[in-house]
Amino acid sequence: MNAINTITTLNWQDRPAKVKEKITDCFQALACRNELYWGYKGASHYNMCGINEHQWLTAFIQQHNFRNDFYVLDVGAGDFSFGRAVANTINQHITDGKLRENISVTIISLCGEQNPDQEEIQDGNCRLLNLGAFKIENLFEELQIRNLDVENKVDLIVSRWTFCHLIDPVGTFAQALSLLRPVTGLLCMDEFYFLYNDQPYDDQNIIQLLFDANIPFIMKEKNYLEMNEMHQFALKRKNADCFPLQLEYNSLKLINRSGEYRDVLEFKSHYLENFQMNPSQLYKSSCEITGLYGDQTLFEELKPYIHEGPLENNPFLKNSDCDLYCLDTDRYSQLCVSIELNQKEMFDRILQTDPLSVTFVDSDGNTPLHIAVKYDTLGYFIEKLIAAGVDTQHPNHMGLTPSYLAFINGNTKAEEHLKNTT
Ligand SMILES: C[S@@+](CC[C@H](N)C(=O)[O-])C[C@H]1O[C@@H](n2cnc3c(N)ncnc32)[C@H](O)[C@@H]1O
Repeated sequence: MNAINTITTLNWQDRPAKVKEKITDCFQALACRNELYWGYKGASHYNMCGINEHQWLTAFIQQHNFRNDFYVLDVGAGDFSFGRAVANTINQHITDGKLRENISVTIISLCGEQNPDQEEIQDGNCRLLNLGAFKIENLFEELQIRNLDVENKVDLIVSRWTFCHLIDPVGTFAQALSLLRPVTGLLCMDEFYFLYNDQPYDDQNIIQLLFDANIPFIMKEKNYLEMNEMHQFALKRKNADCFPLQLEYNSLKLINRSGEYRDVLEFKSHYLENFQMNPSQLYKSSCEITGLYGDQTLFEELKPYIHEGPLENNPFLKNSDCDLYCLDTDRYSQLCVSIELNQKEMFDRILQTDPLSVTFVDSDGNTPLHIAVKYDTLGYFIEKLIAAGVDTQHPNHMGLTPSYLAFINGNTKAEEHLKNTT
């Protein structure tokens, strides 16, 4: 089919005026909010496709021992938890000798709201850039304005619950891809919404886009029974070419998605006439993660860092003395991750094998109870942490006690539990 030649490669700078206006409106609306507005406000791990990003990055740095500078980017960072937690992990591994002392990791975390705190923090070998009031949809330009030259340099890009809020996620995705280090860099993200031609919305569009752009990826299909779930992706950039996708901006269309009307951007594409996507055409992993599909080579490469599915697959629970880097675990963060992911069995096992884990405090002064009041609305974890002797009055470095944090988060169950301990 020749029609493809008549369409030019997508360039986000060609956005129609209406799209630009809408992007500016949405961005300005963010300025009046803080990160507490969002349901997902940031997390130490995002676990896209079940990948433990901390473990992946640790191994990646070990394997690239000819290089000293590494870059991580969190697009839509909420309260910047991910960047802080990665810095913790890196610094800890330098202390315990798993990582070299001469490395430097720059972790750039972006969010639309203002960041009232310090934007640049040096934490051990990590330079944290927590950039607020950042217009993510103009990613490339905004980084340039801040003199951050990271094109083709970023080793790990993560983005959770952010692209789904963007007006032009496709143009933003193309920019993110151009920041990713070709061949070795990893991008982990979740679903975003856009339309093709005159067709109704289809959640396979994003899969189609990855195929058309010839991008190797693995995906974890959403659980269609859960309202609040999205497809998750981990992907690589094959080579240094720019985003090769021949698409054209069309218009914004108001569509009804899950009972809510919102503007979704439509693109013109001719690829569709050639190809109809069906997830079953992808390699289905033999590992026991439900709905994990994708490029077999990439899957084999990422497999050591994928720890979801049945509990017995979790290396910590199998053998807590295991010292292989890919099976490495930090008990404190495991305890917190088990709370974040609502993994009760894992949480109970960790508490049982390592009761002292409740006494850990992270670099922001948070105890596991601070984490629990954010995520545990039923009180299961909170009750057990209290019974295990967690310090219920401990203020974090912002002066927030667990009960105050429970109040801010509107977690009434947590407030009830904590009331009885004062
Ligand atoms: C739902 S929160 C997700 C936070 C974190 N990634 C997580 O999963 O917990 C969305 C993040 O994306 C950012 N964001 C959403 N839309 C944006 C926009 N149009 N421009 C800039 N930032 C935006 C918000 O500032 C926020 O940090």
